[in-house]
Amino acid sequence: MSEKILELKNISKSFSNLIANDGVDFDLKKGEVHALLGENGAGKTTLMNILYGIYKPDAGEIFLEGKKIDISSPRDAIENGIGMIQQHFSLVPSFSVVQNVALGLKELGIIPDLSKVRKRIVELSNRYKINVDPGAKIWQLSAGEQQRVEIIKLLYVKSKIMILDEPTAILTPQEAKGLFETIREMTANGASVIFISHKLKEVLEISDRVTVLRHGKVIGTVETKGSNENDLARMMVGRDVVLKIDKKPSHPSKPILKIENLHVIGDKGIEAVKGVSLEVKGGEILGIAGVEGNGQRELGEAIYGLRNYTGNIFINGSKVRSGDVLERIKNHVAYIPQDRKADALCGGLPVYKNLFIKAFSSPVFSFNPYLFYPEKLRKPAEKLVKEFSISTSSVDQEVKFLSGGNMQKVVLAREIESEPKLIIAVHPTRGLDVGAEEFVYNVLLAQKERGTAILLIAGDLYEIFNLSDRVGVLYEGQIIGYSEPDESHIEEIGLMMAGVKNEDKI
Ligand SMILES: Nc1ncnc2c1ncn2[C@@H]1O[C@H](COP(=O)(O)OP(=O)(O)OP(=O)(O)O)[C@@H](O)[C@H]1O
Ligand SMILES: [Mg+2]
Repeated sequence: MSEKILELKNISKSFSNLIANDGVDFDLKKGEVHALLGENGAGKTTLMNILYGIYKPDAGEIFLEGKKIDISSPRDAIENGIGMIQQHFSLVPSFSVVQNVALGLKELGIIPDLSKVRKRIVELSNRYKINVDPGAKIWQLSAGEQQRVEIIKLLYVKSKIMILDEPTAILTPQEAKGLFETIREMTANGASVIFISHKLKEVLEISDRVTVLRHGKVIGTVETKGSNENDLARMMVGRDVVLKIDKKPSHPSKPILKIENLHVIGDKGIEAVKGVSLEVKGGEILGIAGVEGNGQRELGEAIYGLRNYTGNIFINGSKVRSGDVLERIKNHVAYIPQDRKADALCGGLPVYKNLFIKAFSSPVFSFNPYLFYPEKLRKPAEKLVKEFSISTSSVDQEVKFLSGGNMQKVVLAREIESEPKLIIAVHPTRGLDVGAEEFVYNVLLAQKERGTAILLIAGDLYEIFNLSDRVGVLYEGQIIGYSEPDESHIEEIGLMMAGVKNEDKI
């Protein structure tokens, strides 16, 4: 496994005054998994976008099997055997898996023989242990299943180098295990993988080597064997990171959120939440655990008024209307949604407007929508950018140009700083680096101290253990039971996540 298949030499890339990559050297051996680690905004995605031909570097060279190559488009990259799975997939929702794989295949000609494509998909999915139904339409598939289709696409064109940019961020722990099996199968067959993740446990489990970037520069490359979570965290952020948070006991006050017999229909027209009742008091964090797709998204959206429902929701003692977001905003409800790009940010607006977008409904702005004083918002926006360490060239930068983790920080800064009485947080630390994660945990715990009620819907059990005072498990749209949020109850919670009720245990 010593043969170098790829070498990036002295790669630099700037966006106006921001240096995203600064003289980066990186190499990849045949059959290895090389992890790329770094804080939010360190330059990981930029480096991979250069390798995949999306960005042109300002300086530097790329060598493939010893030969210098020029990559000026993803097509060039694919022809050189380099494939990338980005965080936002490029699949056509109304097409089937077979049709999506066939799209862009050159050898198929004008009238493609889809039965050939289907046959090969089945072969590939058997060989690489990828469970996917070739006839299914993309819109019917979960995010994890869609990712498998993207992997099949790469395997179909015999990619030798696979770039996976935070592939596990959207996966359940079980799905992540499946992905790792596929990765092992791919490397055993001679492919090489560049793996980006903020989850240090995963990096230690799957990679052979780790390269750490900080502020666009390589801090070092280490063998995974002999490394550990603390060493990697320190290399990433330049200081020790507390990976386990000290949680203080709660002193709950009166109920802030009360839900009675909530029923919500999901996007596919099927009931996704089936009679949930729950209560979250001020000064308390209620964690909701569960395998993704059991109604979490719909529950969060219904509470925030983004989705219609039947049943009752009370905020601070008064009943709120179904499907009325403005009423929630007026009631000081903060919402951190699952999909930040689709549901929380306006990509084309600058950072400072995104940070204060909820204030637009306040009398100052609604008085006259044309009367808008940017100067008044810039200063407080700059303060938030500093507090939340949002890496951006300025508060005028359009949000769509921020790194994934920094977009998440914009949402968190806006929602947490709005002095909420209730926070609905769905996967709040998704895509954040370990330093930022520690920061968000502390901010949420501080909110709890000041009496805010927090409903935390998360896929990561350790996140739930770190923060929650109680944990409920959502299974097939119902709260199947409650448990203590600590590791000694992990088995009980795991069983409930699989649909086994507390009283079913013998
Ligand atoms: N097209 C662009 N225009 C302007 N700035 C950009 C552009 N693309 C990236 N950047 C900036 O370059 C820096 C590096 O971003 P990049 O996406 O590479 O970070 P990252 O390491 O992948 O972070 P994350 O872990 O949050 O995904 C960020 O500050 C980002 O705002
Ligand atoms: Mg990134």
